[in-house]
Amino acid sequence: MIERLKELGDEALQEIKEANTIKALEDVRVKYLGKKGPITEVLRGMGKLSAEERPKVGQKANDVREHIQEKLDEKSAELEKKALEEKLQAESVDVTLPGKEIKRGARHPLTAVVEEIEDIFIGLGFQVTEGPEVETDYYNFEALNLPQEHPARDMQDSFYVTTDMLLRTQTSPVQARTMEKHEGKGPVKIVCPGKVYRRDDDDATHSHQFLQIEGLYVDHNIRMSDLKGILEAFVQKYFGVDRSIRLRPSFFPFTEPSVEVDVSCGICEGEGCRICKHTGWIEVLGAGMVHPRVLEMSGFDPEEYSGFAFGMGVERFAMLKYGIDDIRHFYTNDIRFLDQFKRA
Ligand code: PHE
Repeated sequence: MIERLKELGDEALQEIKEANTIKALEDVRVKYLGKKGPITEVLRGMGKLSAEERPKVGQKANDVREHIQEKLDEKSAELEKKALEEKLQAESVDVTLPGKEIKRGARHPLTAVVEEIEDIFIGLGFQVTEGPEVETDYYNFEALNLPQEHPARDMQDSFYVTTDMLLRTQTSPVQARTMEKHEGKGPVKIVCPGKVYRRDDDDATHSHQFLQIEGLYVDHNIRMSDLKGILEAFVQKYFGVDRSIRLRPSFFPFTEPSVEVDVSCGICEGEGCRICKHTGWIEVLGAGMVHPRVLEMSGFDPEEYSGFAFGMGVERFAMLKYGIDDIRHFYTNDIRFLDQFKRA
């Protein structure tokens, strides 16, 4: 019997060795240590043994069982470790692989500049107002003191949609529209950003479609010095505190007197260079005191109210600030150009 037990022990150990999965190992355990297993079988026949042999066989059976159990535990631990390692291997992440690039968009530089300029004027107490791009001849010209056949209409070649509708040539019609809404009562203090259109051949400094920002301040006792103060504050906020402005006489049908506003050159600081055409000054906007006839046509009493207006080209302000030498960059949407305006 002892011999049989030894054989069973050896067979079991062999099968444990060969078991390659946790399931196979479990089968071995059931086969040898289960209630119906061969060892139990052997023990059942112990009744026939002599009193002397019985404890020896019993002892041997226990030894064999324990040994099998021990080997099963060892193998089980080994298989579990192997399974875990395989799992880790299969699910491993290579942290050295390059990640997927997330393509980030950027606001268009003109949008950013419009918002920056709006913010400055909001800080100076102005409100942002908009008007239609397809405008009537009345608001684009007539209400701004430019009657039919007025020669100054030639200053702005236009795209007509019908005989009395056109793509607006300037943002000034928003002045007239807003004053009408106020029904003769000030203050009116607005800036109006928007697209305007002119029949122009596109080149480095001209575009048939561009952006303007109009400003209008109508109230009691508004003077030219208010215009100058507001524009100086604006220019110094936008370009820097070291910049100054100067006003030169000019002509617009809707302002009297009218001025052209220059900002001191930031490249040569007034010395004269290529950018400022050796004058030390760069022309940036048109402005003036609102013509009494314009106030009147829009329902304001010029005896009681006065005001100033100004208009600027957004592209020009953006080009000067960022050193852009061709207006067409804004409209051709070359990603290499636009990418440079990504905010950190
Ligand atoms: N509308 C004028 C232009 O487009 C600019 C301007 C606006 C001038 C307001 C004076 C006052 O040229």
